[in-house]
Formats: sequence, C-alpha cells, structure tokens
Amino acid sequence: MSNNHPVSVVAIDGPSASGKSTVSKRVAQELKFTYVDSGSLYRGMTWKALRDGVEIGRPDQVIELMNRMKLEFYTENRVVLFTMDGEDPGQQIRSEPVRENVADIAAIPEVRVFMVDRLREMVRFGDIVMEGRDIGTVVFPESPFKYYLDADPEERARRRSLELKSMEGVDDVGKVLDSLARRDRKDSTRKTAPLQIALGARVINSTSMTIEEVVALITAEVRAALGQ
Ligand code: C5P
Repeated sequence: MSNNHPVSVVAIDGPSASGKSTVSKRVAQELKFTYVDSGSLYRGMTWKALRDGVEIGRPDQVIELMNRMKLEFYTENRVVLFTMDGEDPGQQIRSEPVRENVADIAAIPEVRVFMVDRLREMVRFGDIVMEGRDIGTVVFPESPFKYYLDADPEERARRRSLELKSMEGVDDVGKVLDSLARRDRKDSTRKTAPLQIALGARVINSTSMTIEEVVALITAEVRAALGQ
C-alpha cells in the first residue's frame, strides 16, 4: 500500500460479455493496481455449496455454510485469489453447474452483505481495480473512478459465441447463450443490488471500440486525476 495517498479503487460494472473482465485486468496491469474479480466470489460460494451438497434452493443452508467456512484471500501477481476451507476452486468456478446456479446464490441478501464486506476489505491489498455488478452502486459508491461498460446486445452475443467456441466442453453455443441471457435478466431484476448504472459512473459503450481504446480511456482518466 502507498504511504501517503489514500487507496484508489477503480470500479467497473456491466453485464456479461461487455468486455468487463478483459478491460479490468488490463487496466489493473497498466496502472499496477491489484485486480479483484468480485464475480469469482459469488461463483466460489456457488461451487462450495454444490460441492458440500447444500441445496441451492435452501438459502438458510447456504448461509449456514457461508458463515461456517473458512475464506482466505491472497494475491498472486497482483491478482486476488482465495481458498474456501483450504481449497482453491480454480477453474471449477467456470463450470456449467456453477454458471447455472450463481445468479440464485448472488440474489440471497445475506450472501450479498457478507461478500460486500469481504470486497470492501480488499483495500488492504492497496490500489485496486474491481469488476462486478454492484461495485459502483454498493461496494465503493464513493470512488471517483466508476465505470459502466456496455455493448449492444448483438455485439455481446457475438463476443460470447466467440469466447464459448474457444472453450473446451461447450458444444451447444445456443444453449449457453440462452443461459447467459437468463442470468443477465436475473442480475438486472433481483431485489437486492441489481445491476444498475451507478450515480456518477461513466458509461462506456464498447460496441465499436477496441479493448485497447477502452483501456486507454480509463487509465488516462485515472492517471490524470491522480496527477500521474
Ligand atoms: O462476473 P461474472 O459473470 O463472473 O459473475 C457471475 C455472477 O455473479 C453474476 O452473474 C452475478 O449473478 C454475480 N455477481 C454479483 N455481483 C457482483 C459480481 C457478480 O451478483 N458484484
């Protein structure tokens, strides 16, 4: 952590396939900030519940497991990672069962309160770039660096298909696209902390922009504001 300036938080929200993850990682690298993928926590909680045989439809059981498990964070190459009861879920958080259930887990208010607290604690790692759905609205609303990344629906579908086709074990792209659309709908309509544009957030529609352009725009703003 720097000695004499307050910790800076760059909050990047947006729907899936808006380019959020790629942009957030690159912005963090450019600025030499630590990268936090808040979605990985909700995915991790989903993975843990499935693994421990907890019924996803039983929030009381999920909450009990959440309060009982040991969640530990660490960084590797300026990326925040975690273990749950000593185990690193790794790529399992990207599996189909997790993908299908994460939006339900993330809609449980108690899970959100717990994760928001953990996410706020990330400033102990110093300056951070955090991506998610509610970072600018709920987790760090005071941050001067709030961005909402979006892209037109057709472009998001195209990006998703490209990404999915390059992934192993995905043979029905149409099916996965449908499931992603369902997840986006759930994330935008849930009662607690739905995906919204934060007050004061800069909206970037990346439909006709390259990743480099989006990254350059954000890093230039942050650097200028920090007097770098
Ligand atoms: O970003 P990613 O697609 O990995 O997030 C997976 C899911 O986690 C989202 O669909 C959403 O349900 C949940 N999530 C959330 N709040 C965040 C980040 C992710 O509810 N800040």
